[in-house]
Amino acid sequence: MELEEINTIAVLGAGNMGHGIAEVAALAGYDVNLRDIKEEFVQNGYDQIEWSLGKLAEKDQLSEAEADAALERVTPLVDFGEAVSDADFVIEAVPEKMDIKKDVYSEMEKHAPDHTIFATNTSSLSITELSEVTNRPEQFCGMHFFNPPVRMQLVEVITGAHTDDSVLDVTEELAEEMGKTPVRVRKDSPGFIVNRVLVPLMNEAAWMVESGDATVEEVDSATKFDIGLPMGSFELADQVGIDVGYHVLEYMHDVLGDAYEPCPLLAEKVEEGNLGKKTGEGFYDYE
Ligand code: CAA
Repeated sequence: MELEEINTIAVLGAGNMGHGIAEVAALAGYDVNLRDIKEEFVQNGYDQIEWSLGKLAEKDQLSEAEADAALERVTPLVDFGEAVSDADFVIEAVPEKMDIKKDVYSEMEKHAPDHTIFATNTSSLSITELSEVTNRPEQFCGMHFFNPPVRMQLVEVITGAHTDDSVLDVTEELAEEMGKTPVRVRKDSPGFIVNRVLVPLMNEAAWMVESGDATVEEVDSATKFDIGLPMGSFELADQVGIDVGYHVLEYMHDVLGDAYEPCPLLAEKVEEGNLGKKTGEGFYDYE
């Protein structure tokens, strides 16, 4: 498929990443079907896009008319078939669980046209394993955005064992069309490049606090000041979603071994439902 043949993009999952990706696609001029399993979830994602576009307009990064036009290009949907049946490109951003994603791909295969490319925004899971649930593994790749998508420049474009080079090429072109900088990831290994480096850093920070070696605030001041991260490790965990980081670690632990054992402090936050900014509380309070 050529880039010019992509008109409609379906984004599955309207959470933190899904709504942000839908916003980026709409800003690039695409018609976007934003789908989630409940009306309430999809409406929340749509409201977040409206908020974000409003912020960009307020800061003169786009005009009110451009913000309105982008929002108009987004169609919030719950029906799976409706979301996918006219899509040329699907970006899946549902929760970071292999079983959930596999169920979504089995369903997607029933509704999507033959030419449609499937791209997963997984943060860590095997592209090859996911692609094998479909009968188009050569039209399947990773397209991994960073949080918040509208502000972050990088997109990892990840090859699976069966992915056609032409699919990687068009996905990179699409990322560029969205104003992003794609980096091709040649090996489908857990966490790809960024999360393989970044998530263990967040985990190590949590182990330091767990063992009483430093406080959350001390670690954050030091990592921000000296390592030069734009946010401290815990601020970043709150931004990304503590559950997302935790699921990435669980997967890396399973596949890569003990060095990636998730810190219990992260597990506690996940059990309590204090997942960071999106729930109003994580390592910091956002209420
Ligand atoms: N849309 C529009 N505006 C937004 C926004 C969004 N999605 N998110 C935040 N803002 C607004 C804030 O409301 C705030 O507005 P006010 O000034 O009106 O209060 C403003 O942006 C803050 O922007 P600034 O430029 O002043 O702040 P900043 O310089 O700190 O930049 C940032 C914010 C770009 C998020 C920066 O802190 C940053 O780069 N943080 C690191 C993020 C990062 O590393 N993300 C990747 C994580 S890893 C990942 O995502 C992968 C994974 O799979 C787990």
